[in-house]
Amino acid sequence: MTVDFNESAVRALEAAYLTTDVVEQRAAVLRTLALEPGQHVLDIGSGPGLLAWEMANAVGPTGRVHGLDLSEPMLEAARHRCAEQPQVAFQHGDAAALPYEPRSFDAVVTTQVYEYVPDIPGALAEVARVLRPGGLVAILDTDYDSLVVHTEDRARLARILDAWDEHFVHRGLPRTLGAQLREAGFRMRQRQAIPMFNPEYTPNAFSFHLTKLIAGFSGGRRDATREDAAGWLAELETLGREGRYFFSLNRYLFVAEWTG
Ligand SMILES: C[S@@+](CC[C@H](N)C(=O)[O-])C[C@H]1O[C@@H](n2cnc3c(N)ncnc32)[C@H](O)[C@@H]1O
Repeated sequence: MTVDFNESAVRALEAAYLTTDVVEQRAAVLRTLALEPGQHVLDIGSGPGLLAWEMANAVGPTGRVHGLDLSEPMLEAARHRCAEQPQVAFQHGDAAALPYEPRSFDAVVTTQVYEYVPDIPGALAEVARVLRPGGLVAILDTDYDSLVVHTEDRARLARILDAWDEHFVHRGLPRTLGAQLREAGFRMRQRQAIPMFNPEYTPNAFSFHLTKLIAGFSGGRRDATREDAAGWLAELETLGREGRYFFSLNRYLFVAEWTG
């Protein structure tokens, strides 16, 4: 993995993923899947279990939600979150080799995970194997080339974003994902951009948290110094205070049907 999803990453991610932007993103994913009571769903890279918790409510006590993740601290947070939902189970495992029987699931979902997975055709073949014919896969990922952020020091920001590239394997997976899904034998059902647009710098904005993650990761990497990272965060505070903050980043949701 390109990044260590440890205990402090769990806390940082939870803060970012409880903002209105990401709450709305989960609602969009749930709407497209239209889960029904009794269905079996797999969440690949389930992280802190926020989506699994919502999907468990949708499939109800007769359904089943399986969460899979490589990070033990994430699995622990997810088990804690879903402790009252007996229809949910989390286990350690890799998107590259799903530990499930063929045709086990009505739906598979994976949000903000494939950007860390090197072999996308291999991961999609695994999804196809575990889906029943007619089952749906929902994949959501970010394209970092869609990032628009206001700064008065573009050279500093360029150094920081160049270092941030080390955080993931694919900086722009969405632009090839449609073709990769078709090549893997899926039929496209829906494609949707989900903008994270924050014209205000407030704790309830996704970018308030993401920019701290970027600065923390990038400072001291490649040409970005720790002073660059601290200086950028200070600038964001100032821009926010003065009403000059602007941040926009697109995530993209693809929903496709396994043709079996
Ligand atoms: C950015 S978090 C997203 C969490 C969750 N899907 C969400 O949207 O709330 C990425 C998660 O993917 C997991 N992950 C990364 N690579 C993985 C892989 N190859 N197989 C399974 N999980 C993986 C990480 O451990 C982390 O929990």
